[in-house]
Amino acid sequence: MTRKTILDIQKMKAQGEKIVLLTAYDATSARVAEAAEIPVILVGDTLGMVIQGHSSTIPVTLDQMIYHCAIVARVTQTSLIVGDMPFMTASISAEDTLRQAARLMQEGGVTAVKLEGGEPVAPIIKRLTQAGIPVMAHIGLTPQSVNQFGGFKVQGRQLEDARQLVRDAEAVQAAGAFAVVLELVPAPLAGLITQRLSIPTIGIGAGPDCDGQVQVFHDILGLFDQFLPRHAKRYAEIGEAMRAAAVQYRQDVQAGVFPTAEQAFSMSEQVLRHLKEALDHANR
Ligand code: KIV
Repeated sequence: MTRKTILDIQKMKAQGEKIVLLTAYDATSARVAEAAEIPVILVGDTLGMVIQGHSSTIPVTLDQMIYHCAIVARVTQTSLIVGDMPFMTASISAEDTLRQAARLMQEGGVTAVKLEGGEPVAPIIKRLTQAGIPVMAHIGLTPQSVNQFGGFKVQGRQLEDARQLVRDAEAVQAAGAFAVVLELVPAPLAGLITQRLSIPTIGIGAGPDCDGQVQVFHDILGLFDQFLPRHAKRYAEIGEAMRAAAVQYRQDVQAGVFPTAEQAFSMSEQVLRHLKEALDHANR
């Protein structure tokens, strides 16, 4: 079994085959994603929200990303694994970004990194790709800049913003990104960008005309109960099923109906008798 490569993903755009990405952060979610034949698993820094309980992705550190990437890489064989570069990793210097991306690949075992930002980070994308680090770009609403945007808002609705998004998309492609995530971008603009680019566009809240889609594991499975983003669709109510199971477990223990003999382990009558005799003797 071999892992998918960035060339496989680019071939999918050329052949008009939709590209499906799903986030995963641990062994269970990664195994579920791969069993579902998801070609690309993103270890996203959304783990800051759905795993760590923060209200944004900003607190997530590189060491935490490496920890989660290594788990996902360890238990998967065929999906391409992309690891998110966390907050500020593309903001200090190209050398700093190179070092951090190298750690994500060497210690986290990912095949590619994802970096938020458009035209301004294009020179950094170029340095990474020249160093042999495949980069998935991420433009539109870039969650690490949520405070700059003043909230999780759709981007590119006004003419100048839309023109900038087109420039961002073209700049990251020219810099060597192998794909670009478009987050919270109006569907017609995402469609236009998709037509203009030769690399695949991956939408999240960017309509149906992107080359692929990415969703957060916890959103599509109903595991994240804080809110459901408008761009997400719940394919199951696993969170509800988990809560019901936990309640049933508590009630069973309290009622004395769990565990039964089926979940218990026996021992030899003789050993038990000898133990009791020895204890009685010791107590005399
Ligand atoms: O961190 C993440 O999971 C992401 C996707 C939602 C695109 O960046």
